[in-house]
Parts: sequence; C-alpha cells; structure tokens
Amino acid sequence: MLKGRTVIVGVCGGIAAYKAAELVRLFRRAAAEVHVIMTASATEFIAPLTFQTLTGNPVHVELFNLIQEREIGHISLADRADLFVVAPATANLIGKVANGIADDLLTTTIMATRAPVLLAPAMNVNMYENPIYQSNQQCLLDHGYQVMEPVVGELACGWEGAGKLPDPADIFDEAVRLLAPKDMRGLRVLVTAGPTREEIDPVRYISNHSSGKMGYAIARAAAWRGADVTLVSGPTCLPAPRGVRRIDVVSAEQMHREVLALADRADLVFKAAAVADYRPVSRAQAKLKKGRDCLERIDLEANPDILADLGKNKGRMVLVGFAAETDDLEKNAAAKLAAKGADLIVANDVSRGDIGFDADQNEVRLFFADGRNECLEKMDKAELADRLLDCAVDLFRAGGDAGTSQ
Ligand code: CTP
Repeated sequence: MLKGRTVIVGVCGGIAAYKAAELVRLFRRAAAEVHVIMTASATEFIAPLTFQTLTGNPVHVELFNLIQEREIGHISLADRADLFVVAPATANLIGKVANGIADDLLTTTIMATRAPVLLAPAMNVNMYENPIYQSNQQCLLDHGYQVMEPVVGELACGWEGAGKLPDPADIFDEAVRLLAPKDMRGLRVLVTAGPTREEIDPVRYISNHSSGKMGYAIARAAAWRGADVTLVSGPTCLPAPRGVRRIDVVSAEQMHREVLALADRADLVFKAAAVADYRPVSRAQAKLKKGRDCLERIDLEANPDILADLGKNKGRMVLVGFAAETDDLEKNAAAKLAAKGADLIVANDVSRGDIGFDADQNEVRLFFADGRNECLEKMDKAELADRLLDCAVDLFRAGGDAGTSQ
C-alpha cells in the first residue's frame, strides 16, 4: 500500500517526539519514501540526525534554508506528499493550522499540501480538554483533516487522562487506512485466526503453534480497504486491528458456534485459524495430580470441522481455507479443497522455520476450485493478505456475474 508513496512526517516539540522515530521506521519498512519536517522546539526533544539516519533524507527544520529551498522547496515538499502525518501534534500546531497561521516550515507545508493530513495529538489533559483546543480541533475536522483521539493514561506531566500519543503502530494503521483504495466497501468479511485451546483440566490444554498473524493481517487489510470485518480469534497476543470487530473464543466448539452464526451475512470467509482437530472427551474439574509413573491416556474426540460445515451450504459466499502441511503439500491441499467445499485453499509448508507459524513472512501455493493453481513468492504476511483479498474479491465478483448471466 505504501510502496513508493511519499509520506511527510511532521514532528512537533513534545515529550512524545521520540516516538515519531518508531513511526518513521514503520513507514520505511513499508517501503515508503519519508521526509521529516521538525518544528524548532521538536529539535529540543530529539535530534534531526535520528530522522535523517532513519529516512536517508535531509531533515527539514527552517522555513528559509537556502540550500534546502534550492534542492527541494517547501511547496514542492507539500506537492509531492501522498500523505502528511503529524505526530506528535501539539495544541500549538493545531491552533495555528486551525487559524491559518503559517509561520514555520511545518505549518506552511501543511497549509500548502493537497494530500490527506493525519494529526496525532499529544498534550496535557487540561490542554486537551480546554474548549479553545477543542474548537480548534473541530475546525480541522470540519475542513477534512483527520485527527486521532489521544490515548487515556498516565501523562509525562504527572496527570492522568486523555493526552498520550497513540501507539506508533496505530498511527501507522490509520495512515495506511487513509491511503488504501476503498475497493472492498460494501463487502462483509469474516476471518478466523489463531489457535484453539482444548482444555484437559483447569490448568492444561491441547493447542498448537499458530500465532494468528496471517488471519489478523487479512482482517486488517480488509478493513483498510473499506470492508465490514469480523474476526473470530482464538487466544493470541495480538491487539485487535483498528476498525475490526473481534470476537474472542477459546475452543474449537466455541469457534464453530460463532462462525456458523455469522456466516449467513458474510460475502468472503477466510478460515486462517489452526483449529484443534480433537478435544478431551471430558475436562477434569480439578487439576490432575502427578504421583503416577505414567499417565496412560487422555481420551479425545473429534471437533467439528468448521470449514467443511461452511462448505456444505455456502451459497454465493467465497470460502477460503488454509492448509498447514509438513509433507505432500500438493496432494494434501488438493484433497482438502475437495473435501471441504472451499473455493480456494492457501497451502503452506509449516515445517520451514522462515515461513508459516509465528513468522512475519509466508510463501504459499494457491489451489482454486476450478483447477488452477499458483505459487506466490515469499513475502510479508501484510502483502500476502492483500493478494489473498484480491483473489477472493475476484472470485466473488465473478460468481456474481455468473449469477446474473444465468
Ligand atoms: N479447519 C476447520 N475446522 C477444523 C480443522 C480445520 O475449520 N476442525 C480448517 C482450518 O481453519 C483450515 C483448514 O480447515 O482452513 C485446514 O486445516 P488444517 O489444520 O491444515 O487441516 P485439517 O483439516 O485439520 O486436516 P489435517 O490435520 O489432517 O491436515
């Protein structure tokens, strides 16, 4: 989404200025071209050299720096921006922009740009709640600027309340959402992610190594692209992606119940969860004690196959399943495609440490119900999520066309 796009990051003078370095790093990791503009007071909190090193570009501070004006003037900086993000945005900056004051490079460039502008405020809670600040913020919202809510918590000044800079990952998410094409608006997407846990007793369970990263990446990307997204998640350490409705479950039976109840109103379903195939026949009420040389057996019974149940009566819905394999990938994936009634199976080799469970990258092979199959090169799960969404949207639209022509 950000590859090759130009992002200008404005940094104001506040204690949270150091967090802008992490934000810049996230933009760079997403292959964006980043230019940083600092206010003079921001340079009191963090050195321009930090941003210069992270971006590989000179950092802009003064309005009339003759050398920088010759090489890249402030208007051309404003023009070449695909997106403008200010983090942290102080009450002073927001007040100035709301009142048309452009007395330094940052305010001048914000006024001159036609790119979307996202402001992430950070300040003392009393400043944030001050009606003058609030009316300035409202003025910016009325003029189409995007202003994030500050986070509530313990502030650097010692007060508790709203005023903390949102997490850089959340600012990054919001920025990508602003730039993403809204080509999935109107589509309802249901995603499952993570492992399930099947309890043996109150302290032990059977589970697997799934981290949930693939399913979360799909849910996040679909929300960025404007879809209405519900994520049914087994236990993971991942935060719910912004703009996604998350339903937490623990066991395969709970996931089965939730997914079947939601499936009726889904256009695209991604079954990325690693569902446990078996569960203990009974869960011990009290912790099983040791004291015997061996525990002879734990009786297991089969869990419902959620994907196969969805495949039995799926109507126009596009059903995407996943196949985690350690051997015979092609044969196993093709068998799952047929057995589960899916439109597409995304198969990957989970015996490789560099892809699959808990990795940030994946390399998959796609098996389509119409007999096509395709290898995708190794890529970040975020990029793969977009590719999988593209495939599912194409199948959904092709299904609709076929339906209309009949
Ligand atoms: N799946 C499911 N319900 C189950 C088991 C699996 O919905 N009880 C789904 C998974 O979410 C995935 C697909 O089926 O989309 C394949 O899961 P996988 O674990 O690869 O295979 P299994 O069907 O469990 O078969 P096996 O363990 O024999 O490989």
